[in-house]
Formats: sequence, C-alpha cells, structure tokens
Amino acid sequence: MNIVEIENLSKKFVISHEQQNPYASLKEILTGWGCGIKNRLLLNPSESAPTQEEFWALNDITLNIEQGDKIAILGRNGAGKSTFLKVLSRIIEPTKGRIRIRGRVSSLLEVGTGFHPDLTGRENILLNGAIMGMSYREMKQKFDEIVAFADIEKFLDTPIKRYSSGMYMRLGFAIAAHLESDLLIVDEVLAVGDAQFQEKCLKKMNEIGAQGTTVLFVSHNVNSVLALCNKGIFLEKGVLKAYEPIQECVSLYTKSCPAAGLEWKGNIGDEHIRLHQTVLLKPRDDSEFFYHGESTRLDLDVEILKPHPDLLLGFSILNSRNLVIARSRLCDHDIDQQIVSRLGHHRLSFDLDLDLFHPGEYRIKIDCGLLNQKKIIEDDVMLKFAVYSKKSLKHESGVDKDGISLGGKWNKI
Ligand SMILES: Nc1ncnc2c1ncn2[C@@H]1O[C@H](COP(=O)(O)OP(=O)(O)OP(=O)(O)O)[C@@H](O)[C@H]1O
Ligand SMILES: [Mg+2]
Repeated sequence: MNIVEIENLSKKFVISHEQQNPYASLKEILTGWGCGIKNRLLLNPSESAPTQEEFWALNDITLNIEQGDKIAILGRNGAGKSTFLKVLSRIIEPTKGRIRIRGRVSSLLEVGTGFHPDLTGRENILLNGAIMGMSYREMKQKFDEIVAFADIEKFLDTPIKRYSSGMYMRLGFAIAAHLESDLLIVDEVLAVGDAQFQEKCLKKMNEIGAQGTTVLFVSHNVNSVLALCNKGIFLEKGVLKAYEPIQECVSLYTKSCPAAGLEWKGNIGDEHIRLHQTVLLKPRDDSEFFYHGESTRLDLDVEILKPHPDLLLGFSILNSRNLVIARSRLCDHDIDQQIVSRLGHHRLSFDLDLDLFHPGEYRIKIDCGLLNQKKIIEDDVMLKFAVYSKKSLKHESGVDKDGISLGGKWNKI
C-alpha cells in the first residue's frame, strides 16, 4: 500500500537581489553613497530597485512511497532535500502538485520548527502530543520515555529558547521518535549532537523501522544511510534523478560528487619519469564505493624516460583528516630496481586489502621523486574512494596510525 503519493510536486521560492553600483568604492559603500542614496532619491529610483528572481527548489517530482519503506533522501547541498521534507510535513505549501499521506506524520526538521520557543520542554512535549492527536493516557505513558531518551530532565521546566542546539535536537528527536506515527521524517539529525547520541538515534530509527513505520531520512553520511534504508531518493537541483534500491541510489549519488574519483589520466612528471594513468579498480560494475573487507587493485601507468638509481615511486593513502594512514613505495620491495631503471612504459599494480580501512572517505596521492633530493610529482591527490560498512552504524574516519607501510606486493602487468 502507498502511504505517500506525490504528483508533479514543485516548490518555487522568490529571491530578491539588491542592485548595487558595481563601480562604487568601499568608502562609498560604507557611507551609503555608492549603492545609491543619491541615485535612489534623486536620479532614477527604478534603477536601483531590488530585482526578483524565481527559483524552483523542487521541480515536478512524482513518486509513491510504500508503507514500511525506509527511504534516504540523498543529494548535494542545496539539492532540495530539506524543502522536500518540509513540504511533506506541511510546514510549507507546495507551489504546484499534490501530496497525499495516509496516516500520522511525525517529523524532526531543522532546529526551530515544531517547537514553541516560549514554552518549556515539558509543555512542548505535551503540545506536540496533542497536535498528533494522542490521548492524555497515551501521552502520560510516552512522556517519561521521551524525557529519558533526550536526557533533559533537569531542563524540563526551562523555556525551549534557552536550550542549546544540541538539547533542542535531542528533545526534537525524542518526541518525533516516541510519538506513534505512520511516517517518521528526520532531517540531518546526525549533524548536531555527539557521536554517542547519533548512534542512539540511528538505533532508535532502526527499531522504529523494524516495527513497520515508514521512515524518510536525510543524511550526508552514506554509511548510516546504507545501514538504515532500503531505498533512496536522489535529488539534483530540485529534480528527482533516481528512486532506486539504496545501493544503486548511493552509487549514483557518489558518482555525482566530485569526491568520487577512482581514475586519473594525464601526463605529469619530469625528464626522468612521467605518470600517465592511475586507477583503483571498481569493486562492482555499477559501484563507485567499497564495502569494508573487499579488496581492490591500484594500477599505475608510468613511463621511464631517464633511469635514475634514486628514483622512487609509490603511493600514500590519507584519511579525511589528511593524515597519511598507509603507504607503499616501490623501493620497499624487490621488483622496483628493474622497473625504475628500465626505459619505457610500465604498467604496475598493487593489491589493496580494504580490511584495514574503517568506514570513511580516503584519498590516494602518488609519491614520486628522487630519494632525498626532489619531489617529481607534487602533493596532488589523484584518487578518492570511500569504504562503507553494511552492518556497522558507526562512521569512523580511519586508522590513526601514522603511515604504516602496506605489506602487499607490487606486480608488473
Ligand atoms: N525560504 C527560502 N527562500 C528562498 N530560497 C530557499 C528557501 N528555502 C530554501 N531555499 C533554497 O532552496 C534550495 C534548496 O534548499 P534545501 O534547504 O532544500 O537544500 P538541501 O538539499 O536540504 O541542502 P543541505 O544539504 O545544505 O541541507 C537552496 O538553494 C536554498 O537556498
Ligand atoms: Mg537540508
């Protein structure tokens, strides 16, 4: 059964721009002269009137959501994810189109929606319950669970406007998760709050999902999305690009991000060596990311123009905090001498076991130079890849050890 039916949904925003005199000096701007007190009042008032621009944040979206599905909304910043959730939660009106929802909706949207700032935590909980149509008895039962989950007992009688954004989010999530609803909508709950609370929220959402509640969830954390959702909606500039099983959807999404690059082609180097291509083999035909435990192969295509005994070639892997967590150098192994001292094209490969990598995003840079003399290839990052875990809800950014040397072996292909 469809719990949500969306037909040709569009949302338009109107943005105003102040027109400014492009030739105004800083002083003129600061004194209010350049952007035209004179122009505005005396000369031509229409010239500096603000212009209006129409902007479609959602553009002609049609889809149905089946009861019990856990759906991730993916897309880059500004793609329209929050707008989509707000329209579904009836916080804002669509400009065009139709939405039909069967059942009760509870949502946690951006900080600031769904709460009355002057009321206390206690009053807001009760108010939300009443809005959801819960009876006093039901509410009494849920109240303690909500307070315990949010861990805000001490602040129950404090007006919400005095809450920190973290406390706000904790309470918001606790309310949304505990009020019995048919559709739970959660926007970026993981962006605020500490790691422990984030994990608790994911567990709770998993539980709610397992009970059959339909879940719509926005997150940039692909790892949590894979752990939680069975389908994905991929938005790009307000347009529905894909509505697919979650793995396919994550693949399309990661492909659309510049961060996903399993291949580099070019021609860089110096008079000794040129690098032409480097590729990290795809794990599966349709996928741009790896699962924890999979393995892959790094291929390098190099040309030796002038052999040199100190020529060094290899690669380093950096985690999201830019720490080198692993590396391998041709000099460390035995095949090297024959390659770096022989003229011509060489294709080399290195087998990489991804067991070593926690879920997270990584980058590979090619190290190339003359040992203790000069760098031939600067510190440009060539490849980027991501490792996700199907099981763990944890998102970590990799081993923190400083550049362990990988035990693998270089091969000629
Ligand atoms: N009230 C508004 N008035 C004008 N423009 C708006 C308004 N709300 C959102 N927008 C614009 O609509 C677009 C989509 O915004 P939205 O917040 O839905 O993106 P998002 O996918 O949630 O992005 P993020 O990942 O950064 O949260 C953005 O370009 C945003 O600037
Ligand atoms: Mg958003």
